[in-house]
Amino acid sequence: MNVDAIIKILGGSAEVQTLLGVGASAISNYRKRGHFPKSKQPRLLQALQAKGIDDPETLIGFGVNARTGIGATSASILLIISGGIAAYKSLELIRLYRGRGWGVRVVMTAGAQEFIRPLAAAALSGNAVYSDLFSLTDEAEMGHIRLARMVDAVVVAPATANFMARTAQGFADDLASTILLATAAPILMAPAMNPFMWAHPATQANYRQLYQRGIVFALPESGAMACGEEGEGRLAELETITAATEKLLPGKGRLGGIKALITSGPTHEPIDAVRYIANRSSGKQGHAIARALARAGASVTLISGPVNEPPPHGVSLVAVETAKDMHLAALAALPADIAICAAAVGDFAIAESKKTKNKKIKRGVSPTAPTLKLKTNPDILASIAQHKMRPRLVIGFAAETENLLEYAKEKRTRKGADWILANAVGDKDAPVFGSDYNKVHFITAKGLEDWAEASKMEVAEKLTTRIIEELCT
Ligand code: C5P
Repeated sequence: MNVDAIIKILGGSAEVQTLLGVGASAISNYRKRGHFPKSKQPRLLQALQAKGIDDPETLIGFGVNARTGIGATSASILLIISGGIAAYKSLELIRLYRGRGWGVRVVMTAGAQEFIRPLAAAALSGNAVYSDLFSLTDEAEMGHIRLARMVDAVVVAPATANFMARTAQGFADDLASTILLATAAPILMAPAMNPFMWAHPATQANYRQLYQRGIVFALPESGAMACGEEGEGRLAELETITAATEKLLPGKGRLGGIKALITSGPTHEPIDAVRYIANRSSGKQGHAIARALARAGASVTLISGPVNEPPPHGVSLVAVETAKDMHLAALAALPADIAICAAAVGDFAIAESKKTKNKKIKRGVSPTAPTLKLKTNPDILASIAQHKMRPRLVIGFAAETENLLEYAKEKRTRKGADWILANAVGDKDAPVFGSDYNKVHFITAKGLEDWAEASKMEVAEKLTTRIIEELCT
């Protein structure tokens, strides 16, 4: 949505304030976020129509307005086409991108050229198509590093199993793979392949690795395949890929201008110089949420206890060990618009860890087994929820072994959180801690929703959607 252009057409900021019944700070927020709230859009449509804009929906919805030209080449996309049968659909994708006013440059792998001709992509994109890493002309005119750097987003559609595998390994043996290593722009991949190839553990491992590295996916859909088989593997709908591309563009993330703080992982409470009390939290859920919010444009501070998860691309990581340090780091991250406490914070620390510092508790040192004296740790969620700089949205988790919903509802009110995501701890055969999957009950002041079991990444995406609905509409 071209907020600046809309404000200009409507006669400036003061006019729009009066029209929408909001103050100057709201207008500057809309500018920062790159969109108006949904509730204000009917008034804007009316006012734009009154100004003689005959297709205001297009303007509000981002596209090029034929008459004013607003929105033309508002973004530049590098589309990489790899060699699968779905490559022919990429030609239509170029058309959709152009229709939104985005400039498109196309890179084709050798395999893609077996399916479609570069000339078709060149005609539709209005730009030369690149394919050869060592082409002197391309290097003189453009150079692969410049090509990788000058775009707002890189989209790989279709992404074959082979292309995903090579990207996961960091290959740079053709122009397309080299660009993916050299670019600082966000990357979207839309895989398309035979259902067995997609479901293969090797492809799934590559997908997870790429996802964790910050690549956004428009996941394949189910249906009849060109190879005659049925299943998950078809290229996502082109509209879905276009919408996912749009979200990657600068200033277009719905949470642009929003600050989020997230706690994740376990805490370690030292007993002595070498021992500590900890828990089985892996940090997977908290990290997935940090990733999803960052992708939606939020500025994210991730305060994490010791985990094996890599910090997601684009978030500021504050690594801590103890609950006390996590608490201090969380308070230091205020003010924030959203706080999400996904960490499994140790309830207690060792009361006398000072005395035992640098001294190991050892059998035989004293005639009896030592007794550990504990002291209560700060409750980070409660202290944020009751803080004078309380974020607009405070979200906690509740992992319970029994009476899940009852305890979780009670926790929401007692701690002062807006939302609680409750999940069972699971058992030995199906643990939630450390697993890639989660079954969540979503508890708000309005009531309870049972979310279907899903990957922690999907739970994170769903939560992000709810946050966007809450804060941006
Ligand atoms: O451990 P408990 O069940 O009370 O955790 C519920 C919620 O409170 C979680 O979101 C957790 O991150 C948060 N919490 C916290 N600080 C604590 C204990 C829990 O932020 N000391």
